[in-house]
Amino acid sequence: MAEPILRCLDLHKSFGPPSGRVEVLRGLELAVERGEMVAILGESGAGKTTLLHLVGAIDRPDAGSILFKGRDVAAAPPGERAAYRNRDLGFVFQFHHLLPEFTALENAMMPLLIRGEERGRARARVAPILEELGLAPCMGRRPSELSGGEQQRVAIARAIAPGPALLLADEPTGNLDERNAQAAFELLLDLHRRRGLTTLLVTHSERLAARCTRICRMEHGSLTGSTSTRYNIPSGTAPVPH
Ligand SMILES: Nc1ncnc2c1ncn2[C@@H]1O[C@H](COP(=O)(O)OP(=O)(O)O)[C@@H](O)[C@H]1O
Ligand SMILES: [Mg+2]
Repeated sequence: MAEPILRCLDLHKSFGPPSGRVEVLRGLELAVERGEMVAILGESGAGKTTLLHLVGAIDRPDAGSILFKGRDVAAAPPGERAAYRNRDLGFVFQFHHLLPEFTALENAMMPLLIRGEERGRARARVAPILEELGLAPCMGRRPSELSGGEQQRVAIARAIAPGPALLLADEPTGNLDERNAQAAFELLLDLHRRRGLTTLLVTHSERLAARCTRICRMEHGSLTGSTSTRYNIPSGTAPVPH
């Protein structure tokens, strides 16, 4: 049985002062296999973003472990957590968070430049991805000169350009109209299918979630459907959801 790429074990997270603490995650468990595209559904305030922040090493749990390829990143020192964030993960958020003063190409190159990759090499890696995502005409434009759908596609290009092992997407279609939401979702689905990109996706849409390989529901601080029934999925051959 292959080791899941990600395992969350007995995660706890609370917010607020001791007098009025809100227990958001209460012993949450999750296992994600390589090549899966897992949808997380749940009401507003259920703790979905909190979970993604913990998995993304943006915040730490109060208790519990987050094993990425078997290593506990929750307990790791800050330097190791930063390396994990930059090297192993890609992030897509509800809002694109593109930098307004840079072009689409420069925005998408940013994670590679931050990693110290030389400009020419970063460009050579990113330009084909933008082309593949239908963004060739947008490369030289600033975010304000792009539509909402294009902005989010640039944000997706930026997330995948460094070749992350795990993509974390927090309501990536939540700020888009129906048509653009559909297009952005299709893009993520396509990346998952063609590249075997392991994806953990928070969405409000039952309809979109149904097209992922698995649905987990967040309720009362834990997840139902949190354990995969699939093992040993070779990358690039993830089953096509119906
Ligand atoms: N940094 C924080 N400080 C205080 N409360 C927080 C913080 N982050 C989240 N919360 C609270 O935790 C709960 C879950 O939030 P969140 O994870 O954002 O939910 P979801 O993404 O499912 O809508 C909410 O009640 C929210 O107010
Ligand atoms: Mg949220």
